[in-house]
Amino acid sequence: MGEVDPSFIQAIEHRPKLTVTEAQGIPLIDLSISDTQLVVSQIAEACKNWGFFQVINHGVPLQLQEKVFLASKSFFSQSKEEKQRIRRDEFNPLGYYDTEHTKNVRDWKEVFDFTVENPMVMPASPDPQDKDVEKFINQWPRNPNYLRELCEEYAKEVEKLSFKIMGLIALSLGLSANRFDEFFKDSTSFIRLNYYPPCPIPDLALGVGRHKDAGALTVLYQDDVGGLEVKRKTDGEWIRVKPTPNAYIINVGDIIQVWSNDRYESVEHRVMVNSERERFSIPFFFNPSHSTMVKPLVELTNDENPANYKEYNWGKFFATRKLSNFKKLAVENIQINHYKVCIAEE
Ligand code: OGA
Ligand code: NI
Repeated sequence: MGEVDPSFIQAIEHRPKLTVTEAQGIPLIDLSISDTQLVVSQIAEACKNWGFFQVINHGVPLQLQEKVFLASKSFFSQSKEEKQRIRRDEFNPLGYYDTEHTKNVRDWKEVFDFTVENPMVMPASPDPQDKDVEKFINQWPRNPNYLRELCEEYAKEVEKLSFKIMGLIALSLGLSANRFDEFFKDSTSFIRLNYYPPCPIPDLALGVGRHKDAGALTVLYQDDVGGLEVKRKTDGEWIRVKPTPNAYIINVGDIIQVWSNDRYESVEHRVMVNSERERFSIPFFFNPSHSTMVKPLVELTNDENPANYKEYNWGKFFATRKLSNFKKLAVENIQINHYKVCIAEE
């Protein structure tokens, strides 16, 4: 292990197996086919059985995707010193960051975060009594100097795709296609450029430790290296998502789990690293406005099927999460099962 910081070391039960089980059955959905009913039924199956699917012919220009990927690579190839010039701190959660902890273990990665709305409005503190809001502003690097323009253009395209997918998910739940749209005005959506350097201890550390995404929907671009693993619902086995060129990997986050009253569950996933190749990925986290009160939709609950969650405020939930990712806390991070009406699991 030599000079590797012990904060990266996973507990024995969470260490990855270096023999990989490649995905059989994570659905690949073609969004260009004209039979909407067919696409909707494929999405329904995927959300129920996996919580994950991949989409192709998604409408995001492939040239733009490629350009953002290369620009990200160029940004991370700079010295730490240069990258640290735009580092995230206690006052601004946006920018460059290399010490994120997931479940209190350090991730083997570097990230650059920027929001879609600029400035982005968020609660000033996680304290439920504190009604103050704050505006966060993106920090852009000097180099590459075209990163900002590319990223802003890319954000618009991926947001468009996210609205489209939310519409299909709404239809798959028997709702009207625009049912979710209102929640995403003044969104807290953000994009993360992820860089996973080669790791000398890929059997002991993870690029991102096991977690569920807290927002509504994640739309992820990954390069051809591979490393994302999804916990299969049928048996709890970790399954590698095989990279499909130019595709997006979509997963349902905690908010859809609550909105759908557990019809679609947010599924645990993690990222393995390897000792030879660096890896890049670009998740888009589609999140509602901070003022959104998240609760099971009335259309999906009734006397036989009562709401499984108490309502919670997204902004406060998000602010609490951000805090625990920044500081290594002694207690468990906030989770949606804390809002379960009857806590039966986890
Ligand atoms: C995440 C995540 C997966 C990846 O950032 O939440 O799950 O492949 N990333 O980088
Ligand atoms: Ni994730």
